[in-house]
Amino acid sequence: MAVPTNGNGHYDWAKEVKEFDETKAGVKGLVDAGVTKLPRLFVHPRDKLESHPQIKSTDGVKIELPTIDFEGVKDGGARRREVVEEIRIAGQEWGFFRIVNHGIPLHTMDAMLDAVRRFHEQPTEEKMPLYSADSRKKVRFNSNNGPLRENESASWSDILTCVFQDDHLDPEDIPLACRREVQEYVKCMIELRETMAELLSEALGLNSDYLSRMECMKSEALACLYYPTCPEPEKTLGTPKHSDTTFLTLLMQDDIGGLQILHDDKWADVPPVHGALIANIGDLMQIISNDKFTSVEHRVVAQAVGPRISVACFLMPSQRAAAKPFGPIKELVSDENPGIYREFMFREYYEYYKTKGQHVNSALPHFWISKE
Ligand code: OGA
Ligand code: NI
Repeated sequence: MAVPTNGNGHYDWAKEVKEFDETKAGVKGLVDAGVTKLPRLFVHPRDKLESHPQIKSTDGVKIELPTIDFEGVKDGGARRREVVEEIRIAGQEWGFFRIVNHGIPLHTMDAMLDAVRRFHEQPTEEKMPLYSADSRKKVRFNSNNGPLRENESASWSDILTCVFQDDHLDPEDIPLACRREVQEYVKCMIELRETMAELLSEALGLNSDYLSRMECMKSEALACLYYPTCPEPEKTLGTPKHSDTTFLTLLMQDDIGGLQILHDDKWADVPPVHGALIANIGDLMQIISNDKFTSVEHRVVAQAVGPRISVACFLMPSQRAAAKPFGPIKELVSDENPGIYREFMFREYYEYYKTKGQHVNSALPHFWISKE
């Protein structure tokens, strides 16, 4: 067995994981206990912290992320065509964009951020029964979004996940501390999802209802994230580099910041804009669009300020859609523009990710036809 060397010397990885998990208190539990030095489990190897030699882990370069204004988009006409074109370009060249005037009331967004904070800041005993890494559980609380692979570093964040399969989750299963707000927020996400499905379909040159009929975004996994203040932020990450395994992610972040995307091989900050949402293309959307849309790697740095709160709404297929194979949409492939990816079942894709762990590189090459 390889011995982990993460710059902090050798240590018993399995023992640290076990001890941490047994507290069922998450990263917040460490902060509450007053840690001033990161447990070794949380120290990331240097090459994972600084993927670009000129850039410190916490200093991103400045970029101008596209901002798309949805005002008037439902009225059709010229404005809608403009928005569709903006989405086409942003989806292709950036994979990440801001949305403003999306129709979700500011008070609903703020109430959701407050509710997520309330959940995480309850006494630990209240959260303990939900502590689980079992991805079959519709509602679960943990750190690292599932079990770590051997010797993998842990990250400085806690997550409450609520999965709405086919838009549905029994309200009784949602923790009382945030039940009303989660229900309201998901309703808004579903509405926005419908708009996004139409606009993305049109941006791909398909009928407006194409993606909606496919039901590829008809389930939501809400990740209610809590990034506690970190005593040694330069040694760890809030969320390590990854691309989303979704079709689309709709992200709300509070005003602390810390989200970065890999743009032109450099980490670039995505500063918060109050009331705006961020949409990002997931790997599955890149596949079905046959690379017309791009899924972009991103991460969240750990910080001395906080806690930082964000809510990621991962849009995933309905049960019915998941039972059918996915591959590039047939209207988007031709002799001149052949399909890049083979067909596969959602389950296979999901299993592939589960075996790869937190720090996986993109799964896309695994599904390339040329690799067959
Ligand atoms: C994610 C993610 C970003 C954030 O959960 O996949 O990228 O700002 N979150 O919390
Ligand atoms: Ni993400």
